Amino acid sequence: MNILIIGSGGREHALAWKSAQDKSVSNVFVCPGNAGTALENKVTNISLDTNDFRSIESFCIKEKIELVIIGPEQPLVMGMADFLQSKGIKTFGPSQAAAQLEGSKTYSKDFFIKYGIPTAQYASFSDYNSSKSYLEKIEYPTVVKADGLAAGKGVIICNDKEEALKALESIFKDQAFGDAGSRVVIEEFLEGEEASFIAVVSKNKIIPLATSQDHKAVGEGDVGLNTGGMGAYSPAPIVDERLHKKIITEVMMPTMEGLISEGSPYLGFLYAGLMIKDGELKVLEFNCRFGDPETQPILIRLQSSLVELCLAAINEDMDSYSISWTKKHACGVIIASEGYPESYESNKQVTLPVKSDQDMKLFHAGTKLIDDNVVTSGGRVFCATALGDDLKSAQSKAYNLVDSVTFDGAFHRRDIGFKGIK
Ligand code: AMP
Ligand code: GLY
Repeated sequence: MNILIIGSGGREHALAWKSAQDKSVSNVFVCPGNAGTALENKVTNISLDTNDFRSIESFCIKEKIELVIIGPEQPLVMGMADFLQSKGIKTFGPSQAAAQLEGSKTYSKDFFIKYGIPTAQYASFSDYNSSKSYLEKIEYPTVVKADGLAAGKGVIICNDKEEALKALESIFKDQAFGDAGSRVVIEEFLEGEEASFIAVVSKNKIIPLATSQDHKAVGEGDVGLNTGGMGAYSPAPIVDERLHKKIITEVMMPTMEGLISEGSPYLGFLYAGLMIKDGELKVLEFNCRFGDPETQPILIRLQSSLVELCLAAINEDMDSYSISWTKKHACGVIIASEGYPESYESNKQVTLPVKSDQDMKLFHAGTKLIDDNVVTSGGRVFCATALGDDLKSAQSKAYNLVDSVTFDGAFHRRDIGFKGIK
């Protein structure tokens, strides 16, 4: 079987790496991929424009693609899954309508209220003046969010009214997020510990994946600007059995049922970003895709077939699939380029580790090949991922791997997993 993966990040390298391990898979194509996918056994990068759905369709027909997995949110929100499915190509990813759960914060917040899903109090505005007046009525800190997709940068935590006003000005007046900022959500600030709950969903059936926790802030101890994620580990002990059940019954099931009654049943990875405090939870956001970097530590633990899992969901045959995990813990540490999440330089020559074993994997993100040399091409460059008998040993192995990679301006957080170890 040939499969196609859309995307170019660490998540897509992990998806390609895992899919290529399947005996039934002959070729994995990644569009556009990165240096890591280019160097992977059975994996080939292709450079088609992912906005040009027809060229993706033609490629699928030519290469007899039997499964497409769409990694990032952008093509999902643009309707790529609807398009390919309408052409009879088996595609794992939600419809454009269902992807609105991530594509619009106003849509998702209104959806939470409609279907009784616990979330922070909020109000939504489409103009500066009314959002500004609202700042008089609320408590601080508060959270200002651009409504649309903003590559993880559209959420601004504001300690006081002045900061909130600045955030609104940057969104409405300076158009810092372009169209994504044509509406804003202003939301109650929640305290607690975050966790990522990711599942494979097919209409009203769900297979939860292993739990995980990301580290959003750029600095150790969770300080500094928010990023796409600086590292993740799995499992996340904060999600105990009781909480796991609660997430399924109070968050995932009502979401799946709600989408069915809205006429847009879900197919794909569904990711709930949760804030947990004193055993209670609230949903911060939904993502319509697998998390990055959560995918890397989760997939290194997955023992059963990813390809069969995706096909079972597409074929509405989830009951026949039995998921299995190693009991080992996994830790993935992002190696980023100096300046990230703001501006950074690219094209830095990378020195890669020589030794490797099956309990560790260096997933590439922002890398590309130039004349067989790996150079940097993004803010998040690698995710050094390792397994261990407990989180501490997974962590120490992941850091050994981190220390064996060098490029000019490389930096990472040294504390990934600290909440799971404490
Ligand atoms: P979101 O894209 O909505 O998940 O927001 C990105 C990050 O901003 C989250 O992972 C949290 O760290 C933080 N955040 C978002 N909403 C809130 C909130 N209501 N209270 C506290 N932190 C938040
Ligand atoms: N790791 C956070 C995200 O994928 O959005």
